Amino acid sequence: FHQTPVIAIDGPTASGKGTVAALVAAQLGFHLLDSGALYRLAALASVRYGVAPDDDQALAALVNDLHITFWEGCAELDGVDVSSEIRAEEVGNRASAIAVHQTVRAALVARQRAFRKEPGLVADGRDMGTVIFPDAVLKVFLTASVEARAARRHKQLIQKGFSANMDDLLRDLRERDERDSNRAAAPLKPAADAKLLDTSALSIDQAVDQVVNWYRERIESNKQ
Ligand code: CDP
Ligand code: CDP
Repeated sequence: FHQTPVIAIDGPTASGKGTVAALVAAQLGFHLLDSGALYRLAALASVRYGVAPDDDQALAALVNDLHITFWEGCAELDGVDVSSEIRAEEVGNRASAIAVHQTVRAALVARQRAFRKEPGLVADGRDMGTVIFPDAVLKVFLTASVEARAARRHKQLIQKGFSANMDDLLRDLRERDERDSNRAAAPLKPAADAKLLDTSALSIDQAVDQVVNWYRERIESNKQ
């Protein structure tokens, strides 16, 4: 039995998980786990070290030896800051390709659970509520229409100085949703006890308030 509370926020790409998770964590003074960043770091490392995306054994070995650190919102691979590099769409697509392997997922479990520390953790990804933290006190599944998500990702990529094209983004998003949802290992799906939140027409602040309110309600009802 684990006392340290976890808020699990899962959902498809560009549904707002990362943004909402970071703001909820800041409001509650909780730690933050961006699990997608771990898959992106593994993806980047596989390119660097020339490991093929279908070689599940070599990928798992690579992940076990991965030398990564997170501090103040930065992600380092082998001591080099790669925070912006891992945000490229190619890295996200490769992350999705290597994330289908159960060997790769298993190699990342302990690293993810190690983020659970007092006073609490907000974790975002695809399987936070279903696999990594099944005892999370609150599980939220964020959704938004594919058009809203493509438009958000487009704006975000341009702001970060990447080039982006709406048609390519829509195609890639659909492809990634399809692969993430239909894989055998930890597919993207809401936990049975997850609260669904469609953010298509919500501002970031509205989404954050809803999650914080659900959390407070849950804590109150657990006390009774
Ligand atoms: O930001 P975005 O939602 O596009 O992706 P991300 O959360 O950074 O994750 C990149 C890819 O890693 C996803 O498309 C998933 O295939 C994989 N992933 C996963 O399988 N499980 C997680 N908990 C997090 C990410
Ligand atoms: O982590 P994930 O891929 O799910 O998405 P994100 O990177 O947090 O959000 C994608 C973009 O959508 C960001 O630029 C957010 O600022 C934006 N966003 C929004 O416009 N409205 C929301 N309700 C949530 C996110």
